[in-house]
Amino acid sequence: MRIAVLKERAEGETRVAATPETVKKLSALGATLAIEEGAGRHAAISDEAYRDAGGEVASASAAVKNADMVLGVNAPRPDLLEGAKQGAWVIAMFNPFGQRDRIEAYAAAGLEALSMEFMPRITRAQSMDVLSSQSNLAGYKAVLAAADTYGRAFPMMMTAAGTVNAARVFVMGVGVAGLQAIATAKRLGSQVSATDVRSATKEQIQSLGAKPVFVDEVEGIEGEGSGGYATEMSEEYRKAQAELVSAHIARQDIVITTALIPGKPAPRLVSDAQIATMKPGSVIFDLAVSQGGNVEGSVADRIVDRHGVRIMGYSNTPGHLPADASALYSRNLFNFLNAFWDNETGRPVLDEEIGEAVRLTRDGRIVNDRLTGAA
Ligand code: NAI
Repeated sequence: MRIAVLKERAEGETRVAATPETVKKLSALGATLAIEEGAGRHAAISDEAYRDAGGEVASASAAVKNADMVLGVNAPRPDLLEGAKQGAWVIAMFNPFGQRDRIEAYAAAGLEALSMEFMPRITRAQSMDVLSSQSNLAGYKAVLAAADTYGRAFPMMMTAAGTVNAARVFVMGVGVAGLQAIATAKRLGSQVSATDVRSATKEQIQSLGAKPVFVDEVEGIEGEGSGGYATEMSEEYRKAQAELVSAHIARQDIVITTALIPGKPAPRLVSDAQIATMKPGSVIFDLAVSQGGNVEGSVADRIVDRHGVRIMGYSNTPGHLPADASALYSRNLFNFLNAFWDNETGRPVLDEEIGEAVRLTRDGRIVNDRLTGAA
């Protein structure tokens, strides 16, 4: 089993899909690892370190030649995969709803594309869940970036020159990223509040020592859909939420938004009119900026000034922590392959539940129910 790891080519991508640790572990299963030269450069991993771990370092075409499997962070360009074996597996994050053309190209090339974003959220797959491993880091980084942009301190400080007040931080969307944002903002000494459409998050917010801010007077508001994800909310709910948020947001210094709904554009949570009520100098970090944005006026990788409030967000937040993001992502990939490794054939054999969830293409066709409309 030959596994190729390519250098990422998407703009601004700093991560890599294997580290010396996972090269060693995959080699121990019996695989041969071929890593493209310079693949780990942005994540502080040298070619030498891959070689020391037992990997072969080569050009992209040499690495891919006769590969049974190609690992990526983002889905590699199909033309880079020429020379891989017929039916080779390509394991990466495909952005399946946003990159239909690329997925069709994989099907046409006879490759089997496996999307890590479609890993089911079941207990046994937690260690393979790339959305969680990357969102957790993103939540942390969003708070640090907002703190760095904010012209004041986060913790309360009582000094001889007078008192500095604690910053008020409001986290909107309490999934994996939001929980880490709350924990990070608390550690920095700020006063934290948070909101979500899923009522189960109320207790989680409280257990981190933050204050829940919830809409609870609208009938039938349970926002939890399948797999623990949020559903789109009714017009009535959205109105109640906007009113509640308007009253709260005007008193906040920092707002971190993280709300996502799978397969849909990010819900709009903060309007320009609401931003106008915030104090000048406040900062909003929109973690959903690359999926359509939770905040009116946010632009990826830019700081936008609206009414004296700075609005920011990165197109690739985990990519701002390349070493840790690569280490966790690579372990997710290893855990996935290791869980299904078949010692007799020397390759992984997926079971039905996880195989059907993650497989996008096979035998020249798109086969995933979420993409064919069968789900
Ligand atoms: P996500 O990234 O899809 O969304 C972020 C958050 O935004 C969610 O909490 C969602 O409820 C919230 N949201 C959506 N629309 C909103 C709106 N209009 N207003 C306010 N908030 C809104 O979510 P993520 O981080 O992927 O987590 C979703 C759930 O899955 C969580 O309960 C998490 O604990 C669970 N989970 C389960 C796993 C497992 O069992 N293997 C692994 C990882 C997460």
